[in-house]
Amino acid sequence: MSTAISPTAYNYKVVRQFAIMTVVWGILGMGLGVFIASQLVWPELNFGLPWTTFGRLRPLHTNLVIFAFGGCALFATSYYVVQRTCQTRLISDSLAAFTFWGWQAVIVGAIVTLPLGYTTTKEYAELEWPLAILLAIVWVTYGLVFFGTIVKRKTKHIYVGNWFYGAFIVVTAMLHIVNHASLPVSFFKSYSAYSGATDAMIQWWYGHNAVGFFLTTGFLGMMYYFVPKQAERPIYSYRLSIVHFWALITLYIWAGPHHLHYTALPDWAQSLGMAMSIILLAPSWGGMINGMMTLSGAWHKLRTDPILRFLVVSLAFYGMSTFEGPMMAIKTVNSLSHYTDWTIGHVHAGALGWVAMISIGALYHMIPKVFGRQQMHSIGLINAHFWLATIGTVLYIASMWVNGITQGLMWRAINDDGTLTYSFVEALQASHPGFIVRALGGAFFATGMLFMAYNVFRTVRASNPAEAEAAAQIAVVGAH
Ligand code: HEM
Ligand code: HEM
Repeated sequence: MSTAISPTAYNYKVVRQFAIMTVVWGILGMGLGVFIASQLVWPELNFGLPWTTFGRLRPLHTNLVIFAFGGCALFATSYYVVQRTCQTRLISDSLAAFTFWGWQAVIVGAIVTLPLGYTTTKEYAELEWPLAILLAIVWVTYGLVFFGTIVKRKTKHIYVGNWFYGAFIVVTAMLHIVNHASLPVSFFKSYSAYSGATDAMIQWWYGHNAVGFFLTTGFLGMMYYFVPKQAERPIYSYRLSIVHFWALITLYIWAGPHHLHYTALPDWAQSLGMAMSIILLAPSWGGMINGMMTLSGAWHKLRTDPILRFLVVSLAFYGMSTFEGPMMAIKTVNSLSHYTDWTIGHVHAGALGWVAMISIGALYHMIPKVFGRQQMHSIGLINAHFWLATIGTVLYIASMWVNGITQGLMWRAINDDGTLTYSFVEALQASHPGFIVRALGGAFFATGMLFMAYNVFRTVRASNPAEAEAAAQIAVVGAH
């Protein structure tokens, strides 16, 4: 009898597939990040070919790290968490398999089309309409699998992690579909249904909530399951998690205009975005504190458990980037930070420090379990990975702060006669050392991912299908 259809077992196959692809896409996306960071140090690396230029590879980097790496981590962990906390198998194996293959097809489509220059030109929504439609179909199917599984749950309550995953799935669908409304003029070219300031507003309503719901809410779902699990402690406050959830999703949706300060967007909308962004600090920190305090009485575990360190340090970076974000949303601060590397530093404090580190921690917890092993092949390698990731992130963001503030100040410096003190090229020259340090930090981070790949490879190789299937049996008591 095929164990794949056993109703008494979780569907770990799709979890395993997404987990492995998270590592693969992580290496490719971050490797490409190091490459484009190096192009900014040595422009010769553009090779004079259109498809290898920074302008085309940059969106490929963002698509690979956000949607391929981050997306696969979210699919893998949400499918794992929803089954274990609902004590039931995914509602449909074939639909789950469709989401896996469909998602990989979208990514491959991005890898082919973006370097060729096919793009909608909307940041984080670059994929042209045929791929955007495929993505929408895959996403709606994901929603069916996730919520269908919740509906047939064997538990009374819906665990809070699932609330966050659920909101991430629903809002991402809404954002993607609304922002992609367009008129195709050929197979590879479409024009946005919106124009002018409306188009910009829709785009940054999408862009900011891609951060809020894709890069934050989904990963908070991960946090609410894996931090208590790894710390072997209940979540610090269930009540706080509910307040955190509702406050976060109600506020995030309004903050988009902070991307459009000092533009043609009406002033009141900019100020509303600024105010909402500042208030957003409260639920963000509420969530961070809830995660951190879960370690009460378990702090000593940090000395010996590098997986827990990944999870806790990710929360620290989450706290840092959600403090920095509201500050950057203040119009006067934004007049200095906008267009500079400060934004890039902020992005990667969230992306490397929070998104990547929580995903890595969650995968190290989950991979042995879905492959029927007790633990990862080497704890020492996880520890080495932890230090490479932490040092890499710090080098990246510190160099970008220095660069960002230098650029902002140099661009606005004015002589007594009203002329600019510095030319643009002088500011670029001043940024060169920071670009080198950033590339080095990125190389540290990406090297850590190679350690991970080796560790995962050895763990998977030591597993056998029977053990993996035995691990997938649904435990009747205490499944989460
Ligand atoms: C080894 C790791 C990484 C390196 C070296 C790296 C490098 C870069 C570079 C050089 C840029 C272009 C900056 C510019 O235009 O001046 C960039 C942009 C970006 N990267 Fe990364 N990256 C890495 C990992 C990640 C990860 C894991 C994520 C997300 C989960 C991410 C998300 C982004 C985003 C969203 C942007 C666009 C930022 C903006 O437009 O403001 N990166 N990255
Ligand atoms: C309370 C939370 C946050 C607020 C209020 C906030 C606010 C901001 C502001 C004001 C900017 C600069 C906009 C500009 O000048 O163009 C920005 C950029 C950005 N932030 Fe945040 N941020 C927050 C958290 C995060 C987190 C946790 C992440 C990542 C996981 C993140 C990812 C980004 C990205 C990718 C951009 C660059 C967008 C672009 O221009 O391409 N933010 N954020």
